[in-house]
Amino acid sequence: MVKNDRANFGSKLGVILASAGSAVGLGNIWRFPYETGNHGGAAFILIYLGCVLILGLPVMIAEFLIGRSSQANTAGAYRNLAPGTHWRWIGRLGVLTGFLILGYYSVVAGWTLEYIGEAVTNGFVGKDAEGFKSAFNQFAANPWRPMLWMILFMLATHFVIVRGVEKGIERSSKIMMPALFIIVLILVVCSVSLPGAEAGIEFLLKPDFSKVDANVFLGAMGQAFFSLSLGMGCLCTYASYFSKQTNLTRTALSVGVIDTIVAILAGFIIFPAAFSVGISPDAGPSLVFITLPNVFQQAFSGIPLLAYLFSVMFYVLLAMAALTSTISMHEVSTAYLHEEFNLSRKKAARIVTLGCIFLGIFCSLSWGALKGYTLFGMTIFDLFDYVTAKIMLPVGGFFISIFTGWYLDRKIVWAEITNNGSLRVPVYKLIIFILRFIAPISIALIFINELGLFKLL
Ligand code: PHE
Repeated sequence: MVKNDRANFGSKLGVILASAGSAVGLGNIWRFPYETGNHGGAAFILIYLGCVLILGLPVMIAEFLIGRSSQANTAGAYRNLAPGTHWRWIGRLGVLTGFLILGYYSVVAGWTLEYIGEAVTNGFVGKDAEGFKSAFNQFAANPWRPMLWMILFMLATHFVIVRGVEKGIERSSKIMMPALFIIVLILVVCSVSLPGAEAGIEFLLKPDFSKVDANVFLGAMGQAFFSLSLGMGCLCTYASYFSKQTNLTRTALSVGVIDTIVAILAGFIIFPAAFSVGISPDAGPSLVFITLPNVFQQAFSGIPLLAYLFSVMFYVLLAMAALTSTISMHEVSTAYLHEEFNLSRKKAARIVTLGCIFLGIFCSLSWGALKGYTLFGMTIFDLFDYVTAKIMLPVGGFFISIFTGWYLDRKIVWAEITNNGSLRVPVYKLIIFILRFIAPISIALIFINELGLFKLL
């Protein structure tokens, strides 16, 4: 069922900013730094860059071409391109993955609102490292506050989604993405000019390969998929709103480059500042909530106005980045319900919002009341993160490469990548080769490696 009355992004810039808006998010500013910190710094970053180049970009092009050629939500896309086959389950798996990610992502997104409030009302002043730690733990464990912020964040997402593709998604990205970039640059300059920042810069640039093990590879691959919004049909859904003139390869390259630059710059905001006040880089998910406010206070202790502005800007940045990403995850499920079940867009959006709030409640409570409920030693929140980023997204990416590389009619792939022959794409053969062999084999090897099977052999 190919519909011609589908919504569309209005401009080339809109396409890039909306897709980059999806990619740039908490993954870059919250998750990337703590994964880098946990996995030892520069060596992790190098492996991460390899994953972006070898897995990320080709899979992104594959998602783009599946979405644009099928003109449908991600589940409908596989139904259109592979009618009557089980491939539709890949689309459905993507919808489920996006839904689960949104469930815990919205909790962290909610925290950013609390921290904007704290920053604006001077709530960070006078606290020391211990003070910030207990403040965060108390806040996260509180049953109500984080939950209310999470709900508020979901409502903000809902508000943009119901306004539609061009007026909601595209317009909001066009405002937020440039603002985000400016804030990132200001923060980097401040951070690297702090006394003692060199240690942090070294941590980011000098690889220590002795820390590299199976886990580092899985972490880097999961982070690449997560950060580029790949493996769940998010960019596939967005691509269904691209025009026939959009150059898919170039768009993928722009999104990949923007996303990577923001992640690395986030590292340059966080580590120089953290090292400058002697804070350990491996604090985990709470890094930007416990460590950073402390860093701002200490680093600018002589200049309270700077500490104030730095904190407010940082959390506003985090909230904006999160919003453009929650919007894109929401759109995957909304488009699915809207098109597959013939619901109005409003109704579909309402179901998604309520469903995510429901999941979000459990993820939020897993920092307090439900902390004791663990599986494989992980809380509900950690489990959602582990299962989605480190398993479901790479598995999705594996099947997306196989689908495009082996199953899909080569004429469709060629027509989409070259816009029916009107574009010269010198890397066309390379893209196909990676999708057929390199991407699926690397993903499989990383999983096998993680399971420790190589060691057994
Ligand atoms: N890429 C987003 C980020 O880095 C997260 C995301 C994952 C968004 C999957 C959409 C789909 O924060």
